[in-house]
Amino acid sequence: MTDVIVARALHVLAVVIWIGGLTMVTTVILPAVRRGAFGPDRLQAFQTIEHGFAWQARSAIIVVGLTGLYMVWRLDLWDRFHAAAYWWMDAMVCLWLLFVFVLFIAEPFILRRHFRCWATARPDTAFAWLHRGHWLLLVLASFTILGAVAGSQGWSVF
Ligand code: HEM
Repeated sequence: MTDVIVARALHVLAVVIWIGGLTMVTTVILPAVRRGAFGPDRLQAFQTIEHGFAWQARSAIIVVGLTGLYMVWRLDLWDRFHAAAYWWMDAMVCLWLLFVFVLFIAEPFILRRHFRCWATARPDTAFAWLHRGHWLLLVLASFTILGAVAGSQGWSVF
């Protein structure tokens, strides 16, 4: 069972790096960028910071997915995906899929170009929506983490 312990430890470490970074961007960096604390070119400032973090987040997401699937396979937990008491298992997978879509497809191929046009034309509105989007992802991630930690210790709302 040492392999499952290692997988769980790596799973949690990657979650901490990824969601900790999201928390930092949402609660500290984006408000500072919106205030113009990194200079008047808010788009340039944000892209420089976000670019560095995006690669950390992408790597962490891959580790979370691989270690999570490994635990499901190794412990044969597939039945959990049909049980309401294990809603947090579905929440983890849904959140993971959402972030894979955002960071591997939407951001590089769609959002980056559109956001640049939008932020050039109407920077206040564009950054306000970008900030709201980050808050939404952070709230979803926080509920998932609360559910997963409590649920894996046997606590259930159902
Ligand atoms: C493909 C996606 C994922 C899969 C297959 C997966 C699978 C798992 C499994 C099997 C466990 C162990 C459950 C148990 O011990 O009963 C677990 C624990 C956990 N997962 Fe995930 N997970 C995934 C994504 C995520 C995401 C996106 C997050 C949070 C952002 C997350 C956070 C956690 C946390 C906090 C724990 C509890 C660790 C502990 O308290 O020991 N997982 N996950």
